[in-house]
Amino acid sequence: MKQYLTTPIYYASGSPHLGHAYTTFVADCYKRYRRLRGDDVLLTSGTDEHGQKIERIAELSGESIGSFIDTHSDEFLNLWKNLDIDVDLFERTSSSTHKELVIDIWQRIRANGDIYKGHYEGLYCVDCEQYFTVGDQCPVHRTPLENFSEESYFFRLSAYQQKLIDHIEANPDFIVPGSRRNEVLSFLKNSELHDLSISRTSTQWGITVPDDPGHVVYVWLDALAAYLSALGGLSSKKLGCYWSNSFHFIGKDILIFHAVYWPAFLWSAGLELPKKIVVNGWLTVEGRKISKSDPETVIDPLSLTDLVGSDGLKYYFLKTVSLGLDLDFRRSHLIDVLNADLANNLGNLFSRFIKLFIKHFPDGLEYSSDNIALVNKDLLQSIRDNANKFATAIERFDLSQAARLFIETAALVNANIQRREPWKIVDRDELGQYLWTLHHCLGYLTLLGASFVPGLTDKARIGLNLDAEPAWTDLYCQRRYVSVRLIGSLFPRIHG
Ligand code: MSP
Repeated sequence: MKQYLTTPIYYASGSPHLGHAYTTFVADCYKRYRRLRGDDVLLTSGTDEHGQKIERIAELSGESIGSFIDTHSDEFLNLWKNLDIDVDLFERTSSSTHKELVIDIWQRIRANGDIYKGHYEGLYCVDCEQYFTVGDQCPVHRTPLENFSEESYFFRLSAYQQKLIDHIEANPDFIVPGSRRNEVLSFLKNSELHDLSISRTSTQWGITVPDDPGHVVYVWLDALAAYLSALGGLSSKKLGCYWSNSFHFIGKDILIFHAVYWPAFLWSAGLELPKKIVVNGWLTVEGRKISKSDPETVIDPLSLTDLVGSDGLKYYFLKTVSLGLDLDFRRSHLIDVLNADLANNLGNLFSRFIKLFIKHFPDGLEYSSDNIALVNKDLLQSIRDNANKFATAIERFDLSQAARLFIETAALVNANIQRREPWKIVDRDELGQYLWTLHHCLGYLTLLGASFVPGLTDKARIGLNLDAEPAWTDLYCQRRYVSVRLIGSLFPRIHG
């Protein structure tokens, strides 16, 4: 099955922080799982480079806008590399493919009669690039709203209100988790959708509206379209293959843009909707959202990676944050969880198993699954049962539950070893059968770990002399001959 996954395209207005990394971890984890299941998956990320906000910040930096956005876009791209995020495509909204696509979409929407020219007067938040109708402060950034008055093109968003409600009601899994779906539904049912201003004259830093050079396309229409341009444009083969099965991974702050504006734009342009929008909550520091506009909250993911590694960081956030909910970050908690789960539980399991195996069977050992004792068959089955629960959790996007099942499975094997005390088994056949079984259990465990701690999993599979590329189907086939080799510590204890 072909599948297309996207992270938001991040503003190239500053350096990436932990909040950006978190959404990307969620998408990366899901991608790795789908690939393990044999799907052909593409993951896109990118940078959002137009609009007044970026123009203003670039001006303040004293750099030319071109080199300013290049610097920050590269920072995001490098971050994904350093965090071992499996990004296939990286789209920048300043690219020429993207510009052409936005113009194409604008023309389709206009041809459909959904664009008209009018005048906008209202309160605007430049950080959100959005008009607000109530209050004098931005509810997200807590900064004063600015009074804007400009000629603008409008999109007939109001015409799509009922269609949006119908779509979300008919497709209960369109927005996950359910709490976020309910939020969008109640927004659509309790407020009247106004037509949306989709051009700006207050800045020239954007994509020029076709036939009206005084206007640039509103950044959100521009940015959302990057999900399509990353695939190469509306008539590209890739888009034809992947778009119909696309999932957007986003933070809750940009839900309305994705769940209301984007579907309406797509319908109007005669294009298919994404299959799913997966919404995460916020990482906070002392209760405040980690955000560039609140510098005290900003944490550089790379500085934490130096301490705990990219696997440690991914695992901690995926396990600790329940999808859709916020998490207040505490460094001491990060270290405690990783020491307990990855250093003690998982790391010790592999090191004591490999040492024991090598001591007794340095040349490997051979059995057939038909000939092993029931107690060993039962152990294998209990790991498979956990793996099935793991799969159900991940398919419901309950990544936290899936991560817990992964580490509980390691604990289950540890407890089994504690109970069976293989170091006391004198019968060589009994010991061989048990170690053969444990080898398979640990191999299965790497299937569960592959989406959360891919680096550790790769190393563990080297220790088990297994193929580098794991596949879910390995759960159901047993190798006769198994062997191990010594590897260093899987996850050294962190002294923070
Ligand atoms: N450029 C727009 C998105 C356009 S998508 C077509 C944008 N960019 S952003 O850089 O401000 O952040 C985008 C995303 O980063 C958020 O939606 C969220 O997924 C992630 N996060 C940013 N701060 C975050 C936290 N503090 N916590 C969790 N995720 C956060 O909005």
